[in-house]
Amino acid sequence: MADNVAALSVDGKTYELPLTTGTENETAVDISSLRAKSGLITLDQGFKNTGSTKSAITFLDGEKGILRYRGYTIEELAEKSSFLEVSYLLIHGELPTPEQYDKFKKEITVHTLVHEDIKNILDGFPSNAHPMGVLSSLVCSLTAFYPKSLDPNRSTEEVNLSIVRILAKMPTLAAWSYKNEVGHPVNYPDNSLDYCSNFLKMMFALPAEKYEVDPVIADALDKLLILHADHEQNCSTSTVRIVGSSQASLYSSISAGINALWGPLHGGANQAVIEMLEKIKADGGNANKYIEKAKDKDDSFRLMGFGHRVYKNFDPRAKIIKKAADNVLDKLGINDPILEIAKGLEEAALRDDYFVERKLYPNVDFYSGIIYRAMGIPTEMFTVMFALGRLPGWIAQWKEMRENNEPIGRPRQVYTGHNERPYQGIDKR
Ligand code: MLT
Repeated sequence: MADNVAALSVDGKTYELPLTTGTENETAVDISSLRAKSGLITLDQGFKNTGSTKSAITFLDGEKGILRYRGYTIEELAEKSSFLEVSYLLIHGELPTPEQYDKFKKEITVHTLVHEDIKNILDGFPSNAHPMGVLSSLVCSLTAFYPKSLDPNRSTEEVNLSIVRILAKMPTLAAWSYKNEVGHPVNYPDNSLDYCSNFLKMMFALPAEKYEVDPVIADALDKLLILHADHEQNCSTSTVRIVGSSQASLYSSISAGINALWGPLHGGANQAVIEMLEKIKADGGNANKYIEKAKDKDDSFRLMGFGHRVYKNFDPRAKIIKKAADNVLDKLGINDPILEIAKGLEEAALRDDYFVERKLYPNVDFYSGIIYRAMGIPTEMFTVMFALGRLPGWIAQWKEMRENNEPIGRPRQVYTGHNERPYQGIDKR
């Protein structure tokens, strides 16, 4: 048997399936021909052992704690790059030349404003609407203001214009989603500011008050957005890809990704971390009490922000965020009891064998909630911040799927319902 195939034996028959190997030597059994050859399908609920695509965008190694965007390590990019440069890298595949970067930044700057009619849509939401629901709606509404974006098969120039528009307008829509929730008037973009400073000003500026962006917070935000920019085929990115695989538009695919990210098992984890810490504080702030509760299988309490589906030793992003969080807290001189509880949980988990054996160490969501809180970002906006960071990754993955002309996603199933049975309903005729 050739050495580049796998053999599957079922009921005395053997089926050969080709092996495919990626550039980091990870190998997959290509089962594209399995059903045609054998009538068999595979089952892998949650797709934890199943590759959905071939991608050249992000590589991660869960055992070694490696994360790279287009071959560059997350450590180097977080330290030396900027969110807009990383966005360009993810979307276009290479770091921009100085000329390309200037053009990219200028294009984004001139597209930060959104159509005034979007305020009418915003006004339709009650002020207690969760910003993630508002954001996904406003992003999808862009299809109405830019109807040419509905066709993903338009020219490269037109697709790139749709990409620039959503990159430029997402901070505005995100900030407006927050202003709607707190019942404040929206702020228009200030194009004299950089990407993150402009977002912070739209978020926090109030009428009749002068707002100055704190560069410590703007720098920390830029680093956080880099760390969240892409993460291969996670739940929300897989959602963007499968919606886009039907040739739905970029904006409707991104809107679907925002909704997938909203769940507490995905992007909502950072909000769930702070809500957990607030619950512990309200109960006296005893971190060790809750460490014991987390270890008690009869106790329903679960530690949020610990462990990861993919990283089996440590999340490289968590290490970087932890350092950034300490830096921001120190520079801002913040002494928040919630943050003290977090440090207590972190120290206990990192030294307790129960957590060490189960690889339940603090992950990116544990620290991002802490640093967002220190930066003054409201809890209900934490997942919006994740969406703001993940946007270039969603765009890059959608673009790659379209450019590779990938087929519509249509998984199979194992049927477990009734076998055929005759209709014996109530005699209605
Ligand atoms: C992410 O960054 O999307 C999260 O860590 C979840 C994941 O990768 O599954």
